Amino acid sequence: MPHGMTRREFVRASAAAGLAAAVPGSLAGAAASGAERRVRGVAPLPGAPAVHVRGPARPVVIASENGGRFRNGGPQTCVEKAFSMIVEGRDVLDAVIAGVNIVELDPEDTSVGYGGLPNADGVVQLDASCMHGPKKRAGGVAALEGVRTPSLVARAVMDHTDHHLLVGKDAQAFARRMGFTIEDDLNTERSRRLWLEWKRRIDPEHWLDPEKRAEVGFRVGQQMIREGLLDESHYWGTIHCSGINAKGEICAVTTTSGLAWKIPGRVGDSPILGAGIYVDNAVGSAGSTGRGEANLYNLTSFLIVELMRRGMHPKDAALEGLKRIRANTVEKRLLNARGLPNFNIRFYVLNARGEYAGATLYAPRNDRFAVCTENGLEFVPLEPLLDGQPTDD
Ligand code: GLY
Repeated sequence: MPHGMTRREFVRASAAAGLAAAVPGSLAGAAASGAERRVRGVAPLPGAPAVHVRGPARPVVIASENGGRFRNGGPQTCVEKAFSMIVEGRDVLDAVIAGVNIVELDPEDTSVGYGGLPNADGVVQLDASCMHGPKKRAGGVAALEGVRTPSLVARAVMDHTDHHLLVGKDAQAFARRMGFTIEDDLNTERSRRLWLEWKRRIDPEHWLDPEKRAEVGFRVGQQMIREGLLDESHYWGTIHCSGINAKGEICAVTTTSGLAWKIPGRVGDSPILGAGIYVDNAVGSAGSTGRGEANLYNLTSFLIVELMRRGMHPKDAALEGLKRIRANTVEKRLLNARGLPNFNIRFYVLNARGEYAGATLYAPRNDRFAVCTENGLEFVPLEPLLDGQPTDD
């Protein structure tokens, strides 16, 4: 970094230089309105605008809100770290993974990595996946124990195997063979204390009926959110981060400790391609945080990218994905008194021009997501599909 420049000034200057070098002047300032071209072989829907394709883009990194909040004691958040690496010319996947590593390692985020809320037996089990747009490669791990940075193990699956997903004990054995440190327990004092509180509330008499137990487990979790013991976004956990460089290369990563106090072995949407993450370098990317089961049923990230392929803006595509989730949520136990979903889920969406959006089923308080551009870190409100709250009576 040049002497006398703050990091933010350096990042801005580097980004501006990167844009100037890589983007024709007329396009650099007009990434959002640049010419649209048709993707080969894909017919647009009747009446839909033609689809944008890869090309010069405005570099940007987006993430769930925790990507702009946690620093693990260092100077940068996830999105700032990833953005500074992108404008230095580093590989976009390296950049977004280095970003989420900050949050995975930060014990203050109880939804991701070290200190993530454990499963019903008090064991931290982590899921993660990554996708490299230009290389068209991906990797994932699920129900992984003992490694603080599951996103790096997902990356190793992508780089060193022919497979997309390794799970459980064998994912851990793979990580050990790849040189990762395996720890006995990823709980922190805080995550263990919260688990014990949950256990005390749901299990005073050792529930035997699994249905009753699941219902009580959910109710107690919601109660702990209302009492302020738990951040709502940490109950389902997760960070998603995606980025694009000036060449239009898009990569993404999603990493999580999953649903708090889940049944051991439960795997959510985060490591599943098309659900917790999806990248098509010609079109864009989508990723999610929130109730994984709702996302898995609809493969919503894939749906959102396909809607963008057919011409939709990231915001409209994300809202359409949420509408699909709402329409497919019909079980009574998943509905509130208004007949609407009693959970939340959010999507973070980027297209190949560097346009982005975040959308949420509900927007509790000031619900927002993190963005880093040449202007530095900012928080942008998430677009809600529904008013009110998931637990409205
Ligand atoms: N979206 C995180 C999970 O459901 O596991």
